Amino acid sequence: MVATFLYEGKAKKVFETDDPNEVIIIFKDDATAFNAQKKDSFSEKGRVNLAFSKYFFDLLHENGVKTHVVSFIDETSMRAKKVDIIPLEVVVRNLAAGSLCRRLGFEKGMALNPPLCEFYLKDDALDDPILCREHIRYMNTATEEELSYIEQQALKVNEIIYNFMDSNNITLVDFKLEFGRTSEGEIILADEISPDTCRFWVKGTMESLDKDVYREDKGDLVGSYKKLAEILGLEL
Ligand code: TMP
Repeated sequence: MVATFLYEGKAKKVFETDDPNEVIIIFKDDATAFNAQKKDSFSEKGRVNLAFSKYFFDLLHENGVKTHVVSFIDETSMRAKKVDIIPLEVVVRNLAAGSLCRRLGFEKGMALNPPLCEFYLKDDALDDPILCREHIRYMNTATEEELSYIEQQALKVNEIIYNFMDSNNITLVDFKLEFGRTSEGEIILADEISPDTCRFWVKGTMESLDKDVYREDKGDLVGSYKKLAEILGLEL
């Protein structure tokens, strides 16, 4: 199998395969925060995040959500459908945290019921600004109909993972998803789902088992991901 380098992001590398409709994604050990103003590398993070992604994508597949996953190759790489990523970061929030508190002064931990779905522009040069639907209307990224589908899928993902984590005594505070278009024009869930892209709190507390440990310098990042895996019974 020939694998030609295609693209490198902050936490992943993408390679072409001999199938024009599939790519290989390699999870790196790198961590960034605040639009890469903060940058480090943590041994095992790529492997651990891929294991979480597999875990959550499997859960979503069992519940009928379509994703880009084709197969998992080894400890740090997966095969995925090649998609054109829609340049939107889709964030769903169950409790207020992070940028929502910074921007609007909401109290950390405030319940958001029903869950809040937000769109951000995936553009590092512009610092991923928050968008309203009216803004998206002027961009050639997604039609109103597609946006509604994306929002509905994001809320479905939230319901599935929230309920699953809740039954394991973990609260899914919020998370970020990315969607892509296949060569046939179908919109499917892409990217990763891991403690890098979600906030998880030990239920009834604000103890973070996610990338906030790194963002806020709260301790051992990979150690906290491993603690989460242990609570879930996920073997790493
Ligand atoms: P925020 O509170 O910083 O806006 O983050 C909301 C959620 O999105 C949180 O679970 C972390 C995740 N996220 C990413 O996965 N990538 C990003 O670049 C950002 C800013 C947030």
